[in-house]
Amino acid sequence: MPEARRVAVVTGGAQGFGRSISVGLAGTGVDILVVDLIEAKETASEVETYGGRAVSLVADVADPGSTERVAALLQQEFGRCDILVNNAGIYPNVGIDEVDFELWRRVHAINLDSQFLMVKAVLPLMKQGGWGRIVNITSNSIGLVIPGLAHYMSSKAGVIGFTRGLANDVAEHGITVNAVGPTASKTPGGLAIIDEEHIDALAQAQAIKRPGTAEDVVGTVLFLAGDSSGWVTGQTIMADGGLVRL
Ligand SMILES: NC(=O)c1ccc[n+]([C@@H]2O[C@H](COP(=O)([O-])OP(=O)(O)OC[C@H]3O[C@@H](n4cnc5c(N)ncnc54)[C@H](O)[C@@H]3O)[C@@H](O)[C@H]2O)c1
Repeated sequence: MPEARRVAVVTGGAQGFGRSISVGLAGTGVDILVVDLIEAKETASEVETYGGRAVSLVADVADPGSTERVAALLQQEFGRCDILVNNAGIYPNVGIDEVDFELWRRVHAINLDSQFLMVKAVLPLMKQGGWGRIVNITSNSIGLVIPGLAHYMSSKAGVIGFTRGLANDVAEHGITVNAVGPTASKTPGGLAIIDEEHIDALAQAQAIKRPGTAEDVVGTVLFLAGDSSGWVTGQTIMADGGLVRL
């Protein structure tokens, strides 16, 4: 009997890094559930070109009710969950004088609380399978001097702490947990807040002197989402052209 196809949940998979990661995973024979605030039609059709199955859920990953819907949909459509990529995030560039508590909370809710909620939603199914890979997207900005990102850096440093702690709790179930940190890149979200010249200028400080694109994190995520990374857990890899060293 052929082995059953693995299933991955990718948050924020309608565009940017999440879309490239979804398509990259589909290329390795994985079916995808995309959870995003917006319809993920293009991602779904690209996944299908690999012969994979794509299910798209329009939902806010920072809302506990939505992540319960994710759990129900996974059970109903696939009956399993092998991989979770916690990618959805926002990065408003706002100086600390203008950051009010509402913005602070929103950034933490979407960038960090959502990762906790998604983990809680998928863990029961992942444990049943006895194998799992959780990849949390952080950011190399936590090692850089970029004004206006205190709220964002706080949430992304939290992602690294959550990754380290969670790795300890789930290892006995065959589940690894790691984080990947991209650099300022030419994704739709990146280009909405940083102009192209700034991304090009930042690239000159990298070891590899070209600007990052949505495809540049895919290889690292695929490694951490696959069988060959089974001895790696609790780690953070900066996939950033060699800009920030941990
Ligand atoms: N692009 C960069 O420069 C850069 C650099 C370092 C880290 N990152 C991180 O990479 C991740 C993806 O960034 P991107 O550049 O691809 O962003 P993007 O804005 O291009 O795409 C993000 C996707 O997430 C979705 N999303 C946002 N909030 C959501 C929510 N509450 N619920 C469900 N979906 C939601 C959006 O609709 C969008 O489709 C983020 O976590 C970001 O912090 C980005």
